[in-house]
Amino acid sequence: MTEDRVHASVLVTPAGERRGRRRARRAAADAVAARSLAQTRAAARTTHAADLAARRATRYLPAAGEPGPAALRTPGRLRLPQHQDTSATWAGAYPFLAEGGLGADGVFIGQDHNSGSAFVYDPWVLYQRGLITAPNMVIAGIVGAGKSALAKSLCTRSIPFGRRVYVPGDPKGEHTAVARAVGGIAIELGHGTTNRLNPLDEGPRPTGLDDEQWRTQVAARRRDLVGALTETVLERRLTPLEHTALDVALTDTVAAATVPILPMVVDRLLTPDDTTLTEDGRLAGHALRRLVAGDLAGMFDGPSTVRFDPTAPMITLDLSAVAENTTALSLLMTCASAWMESALLDPDGGQRWVLYDEAWRLMAHPALLRRMDAHWRLARHYGIANVLVFHKLSDLDNVGDHGSTARALASSLLANAETRVIYRQETDQLGPTATTLGLTRTERGLLSELGRGQALWRIRDRSFLVTHQMVPDELALFGTDARLGQELRKFP
Ligand SMILES: Nc1ncnc2c1ncn2[C@@H]1O[C@H](COP(=O)(O)OP(=O)(O)O)[C@@H](O)[C@H]1O
Ligand SMILES: [Mg+2]
Repeated sequence: MTEDRVHASVLVTPAGERRGRRRARRAAADAVAARSLAQTRAAARTTHAADLAARRATRYLPAAGEPGPAALRTPGRLRLPQHQDTSATWAGAYPFLAEGGLGADGVFIGQDHNSGSAFVYDPWVLYQRGLITAPNMVIAGIVGAGKSALAKSLCTRSIPFGRRVYVPGDPKGEHTAVARAVGGIAIELGHGTTNRLNPLDEGPRPTGLDDEQWRTQVAARRRDLVGALTETVLERRLTPLEHTALDVALTDTVAAATVPILPMVVDRLLTPDDTTLTEDGRLAGHALRRLVAGDLAGMFDGPSTVRFDPTAPMITLDLSAVAENTTALSLLMTCASAWMESALLDPDGGQRWVLYDEAWRLMAHPALLRRMDAHWRLARHYGIANVLVFHKLSDLDNVGDHGSTARALASSLLANAETRVIYRQETDQLGPTATTLGLTRTERGLLSELGRGQALWRIRDRSFLVTHQMVPDELALFGTDARLGQELRKFP
């Protein structure tokens, strides 16, 4: 047997290996390991170089950015060309940032949140400057949002500028204190007061009318009024027969009496001289009788005890004593507005605010709506700015049946009001309001967040976010309640 042995594994080292062989074996093992490492490295290097080459060969974005709409996707620095434009164009791009403002002429309202500056408003000034085509205004918002407070500030702050204020019917009686504070007249109507207004009064005669024109105007006004009152009680339009009966009764009354009053008209309707009209006017007569002998007696059925003083800075009719019943209220408003109308419709009467607070109560009555609509259309001619205060724009949609005249009248009231002041709205109202006014998504989002006294003013297509600011005296005088206890929210 030789000294050499066969080894099945390197783990088993020969027992008597010579040093020389051991060294040679270790060196051979090291050489194998080194060769293997070199091969792995070389392979990794080749793969890396191939990756790099592939990456270099692929084009993701052109160095100068892509042409066309994707131009902003550039690996390099973003550079934009300078752009200059008119504020009208910018107002379209950034509706809340680039509003040029309405100028400084007008009544101070408060702070404009977008510009931080003072917000002033005066419908006559805006009308003269061609920014609006009619000076009418609607104010909408939830209870306690500050709608009445704004209307009161707007009116009272206008008085020093020579404007006068008429409130043809105040169902809550909240304008009484305001009228008295500015040296105006508040006429309280209702049971328990001795005040009477005769809606058939001729009223002050406008300058520039001859006798014949004046007679025709007064006759037309009286006919309209008596017709509207009858329609409100009957809850339908007059028939041609009733029309004639009313007309004859009115003409006879006016011919016979120096001061015609409603009871005379009712008498003549129920017992006309021409007995063929007895049947025709019977229903109308009984309808009108409500104002004379029914629950509304004692307010509009005698000669006026108060004279309309067109020079007073503010006149309000306080209907709070009779405000529970909407039909009654609407009749009173109709009489009251007719009584005021004679003075209102004087083109030389100066610039006047006519304020319909809590107007949603009046919307249910087409006859009253028709009168209001007529006033709104004539607003420019007579120098009147009408203000309609209600809760939500959909109040106007709830008037009458779909497609009815009343609905059309209500929509035309809104269409004729180019200033819409929207206070906080209930969530379910956001959609309809935004659609009606064409609000942007941002504006719509704001509507449910507005705090007390904050409103979105839409003047034609322009928008302003305004906080109405009040001085302590106003707060004390205009305060209606502390029901909500809501604090003013700060906008950043
Ligand atoms: N801009 C305002 N700043 C502080 N208080 C206000 C403001 N606007 C209204 N208020 C207060 O909020 C209360 C309710 O306002 P009001 O105008 O009667 O609400 P609305 O008519 O919308 O129901 C009032 O007491 C009023 O003093
Ligand atoms: Mg109110």
